[in-house]
Amino acid sequence: MAKLTLLTLLGLLTPTALSLRPSPGCGKTPALVTSSSTTTPLRITSNNKQREFFVRLPQNYNSSTPHRLIFTLHALGGTAQQVIAGQGGYLPYYGLPPLANSSTTPTVFVIPNGLNNGWQNSNGEDVTFLRSVLSTVESDLCVDQDLRFSTGFSYGAAMSYSLACSLGREIRAVAALSGNPQISGCAAGSEPVAYYGQHGTTDNVLPLAQARQMRDRFLKNNGCAVQAEPPVPAAGSQGKVKTVYTGCLPDKPVTFVVFDGGHVPTPRETGESETFAHKETWEFFSQFT
Ligand SMILES: *[C@@H]1O[C@H](CO)[C@@H](O)[C@H](O)[C@H]1NC(C)=O
Ligand SMILES: *[C@@H]1O[C@H](CO)[C@@H](O)[C@H](O)[C@H]1NC(C)=O
Repeated sequence: MAKLTLLTLLGLLTPTALSLRPSPGCGKTPALVTSSSTTTPLRITSNNKQREFFVRLPQNYNSSTPHRLIFTLHALGGTAQQVIAGQGGYLPYYGLPPLANSSTTPTVFVIPNGLNNGWQNSNGEDVTFLRSVLSTVESDLCVDQDLRFSTGFSYGAAMSYSLACSLGREIRAVAALSGNPQISGCAAGSEPVAYYGQHGTTDNVLPLAQARQMRDRFLKNNGCAVQAEPPVPAAGSQGKVKTVYTGCLPDKPVTFVVFDGGHVPTPRETGESETFAHKETWEFFSQFT
């Protein structure tokens, strides 16, 4: 009896070490999400507005396995359908499925549509919407609620940052590709969240300085060591400088990549045939298990 109590206590005291918080959908046959949910949107009403989102199940979805959940958010003028199809400069789902594929923890992708093709998040309405999406999806599917992530480009990056600000410990990590701290806002924003950012030196849509502000919020929240601003890659080098910050709280790393280039979701280094964006994002996300 005493032993059992001690074990129970230990279990309660080490939640992150175990990192498994199965959602209410575990063990249930999905009643909402199907393999057609990448082509037929699911709808919910949020803030009196009809909103839609798509869901991509992994092959052989297993309702007894807690899945990783990744939001892939579109940019201004974009759509969820564009993220799914990989049109207009995107790779499908930001290029993540072929990498997520080989992981022992399978991934559910959630692809929502913003209002007016953006994520203005007026009075937090997009955070409210995405919270509802989480609860809807997690009631239907088996998700590890300690393995929620968000990524996106531009407005999608701004909204991922905003989610990190609002969800705090309820989201494990975000990857902000060429984002901005103002356009979707940041409510609360004082909890640590693992943070990956990337940004181009010559981005003339959303300036690099503001991407550094987003990074700096999480450097501070995550308790990372203060260090001088790293050098940027030389103009015309088509290179990148990747900084993995030190001293951050356990489980709360920060990585920032500055590349020689503009406002693009799929920057490539010189001599490379494909972008590094999805590889860096996946390297960052997959460290959490
Ligand atoms: C489903 O997942 C559970 C738990 O991870 C596992 O024990 C079971 O073998 C899986 N079923 C199939 C058909 O893969
Ligand atoms: C990875 O996904 C593709 C389709 O997206 C599928 O054809 C392939 O079999 C998958 N590979 C593994 C190892 O699951």
